[in-house]
Amino acid sequence: MAVRHDSMSALIGTPPAVHSTLAYTRTSEVEDLPHATKKKMADHLRKLEAMFTITPQRMRMIVEAFKDTLEAGLQKPAQVVPMIPTYVFGWPTATETGEYLAVDLGGTNLRVCLVRLTGGGKFEITQSKYRLTEEQKQEDGQKLFDFCGECLKVFIDVNIENGEITKGKILPLGFTFSYPCSQDRIDHGELIRWTKGFGAPNTEGRDVVTMFRKSLALHGVPAEIVALTCDTTGTLIASHYVNPATKIACIFGTGCNAAYMERVGDIPKIAHLGIDPDAQIAINCEWGAFDSFEHEHLPRTKYDIMIDESSNKPGEQAFEKLISGRYLGEILRLVICQLIDEGTVFLGQNTYKIEIPYSFDTAFLSLMESDPTDELLMIIGIFTHFFALETTLAERQFFRALAKLVGRRAARLSACGIAAIVSKMGYLEEGCSVGADGSLYNKYPGFAERIHEGLQDIFGEKGRNVVTHHAEDGSGIGSAIVAAMTKIRKDAGLYPNL
Ligand code: BGC
Repeated sequence: MAVRHDSMSALIGTPPAVHSTLAYTRTSEVEDLPHATKKKMADHLRKLEAMFTITPQRMRMIVEAFKDTLEAGLQKPAQVVPMIPTYVFGWPTATETGEYLAVDLGGTNLRVCLVRLTGGGKFEITQSKYRLTEEQKQEDGQKLFDFCGECLKVFIDVNIENGEITKGKILPLGFTFSYPCSQDRIDHGELIRWTKGFGAPNTEGRDVVTMFRKSLALHGVPAEIVALTCDTTGTLIASHYVNPATKIACIFGTGCNAAYMERVGDIPKIAHLGIDPDAQIAINCEWGAFDSFEHEHLPRTKYDIMIDESSNKPGEQAFEKLISGRYLGEILRLVICQLIDEGTVFLGQNTYKIEIPYSFDTAFLSLMESDPTDELLMIIGIFTHFFALETTLAERQFFRALAKLVGRRAARLSACGIAAIVSKMGYLEEGCSVGADGSLYNKYPGFAERIHEGLQDIFGEKGRNVVTHHAEDGSGIGSAIVAAMTKIRKDAGLYPNL
């Protein structure tokens, strides 16, 4: 059994208000305002349904293109979906033990952890979280890493004081950096591109391990980086550690991605490294980049194109922009804004709040879909409390239906990605377990069920053989296990330079 300590969680900055209790005070008589007729809303919904629905046939076409893309990434370096060999060789044995630090830089928060692997799939974790500001995501990269180094130093000092860490000991560190990095060895990674809205200059094209080592030296942090991983690879390893049936791991959160284990002989682009062709290596797919630049395979709506073109990385992360938590709320907001422009909804009301880009959090979609009341009180709350807008029941029903369309499309596209790996690896007959994590997967009502439904639309009855389950914490536990596996491998003299 795992023991978790979260006692020292220190959130710096203000967390978003999306999960706070909503106040449902109606401030004016809705019927006094001009509102769209039921018929008009129904007409709009029909059009949007046609745009956002992906048929089983279309899904199967996407899966075929996806499979080709995955293969292309294994063949040659620098492909759109980079299929990164991570130098994590094979599965953990659950005999990995020891004390490790883990630093997780991947999205909303920075997390630092002390992980104690006690063997037999058991562990203990102590952790602290620090909120990253939007400014930190855009300021010089070295400064961002220096902040991580500083937080780690504080964390270690506190834990030395309370007796968790021995003074003078240099602890091995697993660094989870969840952005695409091309790796020459496990403690190296050149950032290919920032994703998820990050844009810190002087980082793309550079080795983030070297940068972070510099920050550790600056703050005198007693830690040695032994492995660089991304959240998805960590999730694959951590999930397998506790559930050996796991073959694939996915993240459906602010970003999206998948990892799985590949035979080295089936990765032509690393043939020159002389690794045993029968060895297994974890592949970080970075599938969020599927269909980037060319936009040949995915059914993008005009709203998706608007998001892409106004993003800090136009053309990039095409798959991720249709699926991940960073964008779903924005897709819905853009549809609403168009209806406002056309004079269909909110006539005579002040709409400036909802016109602010990214003001409609994806968490609102989850709340809207799960509203249990006939009156849709939760939706009233969201619109009055956050946007100062009055809605009629017909509008609220429309918004809920719209949230369903956007959420369902994301889940069905996610199913296409999973199906591509399952089909490429021939896992369908014997079945496979997919460890999944991330806010969408964990908090969006029905997301997992819709993935499973999508898998059956693609594969028929056999789709039931592929089952997703909530994964273990990849960026903390997974990263520590990867660090432990790396130490064991190198101590045994196996590919010590990789
Ligand atoms: C990143 C991946 C990461 C995923 C989920 C994507 O934007 O490129 O490295 O695994 O988000 O966090």
